[in-house]
Amino acid sequence: MLAIRNVSKSYRKGAVKAVDDLTLEVPAGVIYGFLGPNGAGKTTTIKMVVGLLRPDTGTISVDGVDVGKYPLEAKRRIGFVPDYPELYEKLTGLEYLNFIGDVFGVPTDVRRRRLGELLEMFELEDAVHDLVQTYSHGMKQKLAVTAAVLPDPALLILDEPFTGLDPKSQALFKDLMRQRCDQGKAVFFSTHILDVAERFCDYIAILNRGRLVAKGTMAELRQMASGETTLEQIFLDLTEEELTEENKGK
Ligand SMILES: Nc1ncnc2c1ncn2[C@@H]1O[C@H](COP(=O)(O)OP(=O)(O)OP(=O)(O)O)[C@@H](O)[C@H]1O
Ligand SMILES: [Mg+2]
Repeated sequence: MLAIRNVSKSYRKGAVKAVDDLTLEVPAGVIYGFLGPNGAGKTTTIKMVVGLLRPDTGTISVDGVDVGKYPLEAKRRIGFVPDYPELYEKLTGLEYLNFIGDVFGVPTDVRRRRLGELLEMFELEDAVHDLVQTYSHGMKQKLAVTAAVLPDPALLILDEPFTGLDPKSQALFKDLMRQRCDQGKAVFFSTHILDVAERFCDYIAILNRGRLVAKGTMAELRQMASGETTLEQIFLDLTEEELTEENKGK
């Protein structure tokens, strides 16, 4: 569903190598967690997948469509919730959702049915008539998720989607993600919440300083880090080891 091949990206004319030769594949039907310490390159990777940044080298394809060559076709297949969603504050929630529905060409009857379900689920039925600028952080997050899911994309990309969502909304959202994957779609999301990743994701990748340091199912990661049982321990070991190696050279 998503194929990232040998992708690298530097900022400031090469001074900062944010992503370093990343290769990753997200099959259809899976929830894929993307982990890594602050500054590891998760958001940079995600921005390249959704076409907001161009890789320096390497290729990315979504559902077989090359993001660099056919950006519009690729974007049609993606629902995206950024780490800090920028919504139109002067629109009501419903106006915003209708705008997204228009952009993606979601037919009116389909739109009405999907919005009915999603707004009921997130308890936004009343708030959707208010201006976005009056929403709390969590309400904005829920609106951004609703907008991303509305066109029913094959691939959902989320940058730290759980920040700001209350426990009930998190649980509902996880159910929604799982349902979509059961229908053969896929979800790729970054998170710092390791116990959610451990219990919820089918596959996990760990990025450290732009490089992939582990990927696989939880069982595979455990096997690789012989002896370690929790994702937190595996994560800390893998990301600390690299630091120690770096420090040795200094
Ligand atoms: N616009 C930018 N200009 C210059 N450097 C940047 C820019 N955006 C990110 N970086 C650098 O690229 C590296 C990766 O950043 P990125 O935002 O991808 O990390 P992240 O894994 O998403 O971190 P976090 O968990 O804090 O969200 C960091 O060293 C960061 O300082
Ligand atoms: Mg980030």
